[in-house]
Amino acid sequence: MTKCIRMAKAFSNPFRPGAGHPPPYLAGRTAETDEFRALLRQDPVLTNLVLTGLRGVGKTVLLDQFRSLALPLGWAWVGTDLSEAASVDEDRLALRLLTDVAVITAGLAVAKVDATPIGFARARSSKTVTLDYATLEGIYRSVPGLVSDKLKAVLAIALRALAAQRGVGLVFAYDEAQNMADHATRDQYPLSLLLEVFQSLQKQGLRALLVLVGLPTLFPKLVETRTFAERMFRVVTLGRLSDAECRDAIVKPVSAANCPVDLDERSVEQIVDLSGGYPYFVQFICRDVYDAFARGQTEIPVDAILRKLDSDFFHGRWARATDRQRELLRVIAFLDSADDEFTVQQIAAASKKLLAKPFSASHISQMLGALSDASLVYKNRHGRYSFAVPMMEQFIRRLEADERRG
Ligand SMILES: Nc1ncnc2c1ncn2[C@@H]1O[C@H](COP(=O)(O)OP(=O)(O)OP(=O)(O)O)[C@@H](O)[C@H]1O
Ligand SMILES: [Mg+2]
Repeated sequence: MTKCIRMAKAFSNPFRPGAGHPPPYLAGRTAETDEFRALLRQDPVLTNLVLTGLRGVGKTVLLDQFRSLALPLGWAWVGTDLSEAASVDEDRLALRLLTDVAVITAGLAVAKVDATPIGFARARSSKTVTLDYATLEGIYRSVPGLVSDKLKAVLAIALRALAAQRGVGLVFAYDEAQNMADHATRDQYPLSLLLEVFQSLQKQGLRALLVLVGLPTLFPKLVETRTFAERMFRVVTLGRLSDAECRDAIVKPVSAANCPVDLDERSVEQIVDLSGGYPYFVQFICRDVYDAFARGQTEIPVDAILRKLDSDFFHGRWARATDRQRELLRVIAFLDSADDEFTVQQIAAASKKLLAKPFSASHISQMLGALSDASLVYKNRHGRYSFAVPMMEQFIRRLEADERRG
């Protein structure tokens, strides 16, 4: 390992492990960006976007990038993180959307007659109204019918005004969208509402594009909610970075002339290997390696970094599992396909070999359900399971090794 500390002024550690923190260099993602660009060019809009992938794979920062792409292509942009509270019932979701839209439409004035579903014109005296939140909510409340009728009417008015006065369409981008759900027991269907409203607006030729971002449970949930969701969305799944992209993510941020740290070939290879190509891990490991080298160390402190990663990233998630669930997760972690997909049958067979008291297939299915609810595994559309946390199997194997060492 070689390291060179050059004399330099004020070059601080560029790496940014965190949720939604823009990386110093956003590596790869060109195919995904091209797909999104194609969706922006649709006229009329027929297909929306689901952007999905495991925790820390780079969904949120890519969404930010998409925003800067959309603006020059004739789109305005609204959206936030969708908390469970925002989608607890239909009315709450509708008001959430109106709050977001109002930020963009507040400066638009429309003739009152255009913003006049029943009763609204009588409420004010001037000939025009601006589409601020109060106006949007007023329209929403005054339209008769179901929440979906109201929301369609008010969004149509806002979209027409945006197209006519600014010549733009509107992207609705919602992160953490896996939090949304219908609640049949309470007779509240916010997720169905969202899908139905966008489908209807798009059928009318209005320029609205829905972008939903979330964990891999998101798309199966959408399709379960409304089968037409299958045709409504292009699904873009972010995976690990290729070796070349991963090297870019590591090397480019330290390639500036005044960077005090040089990473030699062997160190770069080691980081590619340790990170598995997962963006959050790249940032996490590079941040520590940078600090270590800036302090004069010459070897990557692999053990120390992995321990820190275990305590900062994995332990909190492991803590969500019960003792018996952990036993099951240990069995899974030693499957050959643990880093990919696994089935109930594979787990049952391995548990027979490994455990004195093996799990039955039905018990495994039931426990996988509970582990999905805890966001530790997820079931894909073909009924197979995967870890929802990248490289979880390696963490569990490290735990096992520690325990065996005592
Ligand atoms: N293409 C990339 N190249 C380099 N670093 C990246 C890339 N994408 C994301 N990162 C870094 O990875 C980390 C995680 O990114 P981000 O928060 O966008 O992931 P996420 O998929 O939204 O995670 P979560 O599911 O937890 O919301 C951040 O520190 C970010 O800077
Ligand atoms: Mg995110």
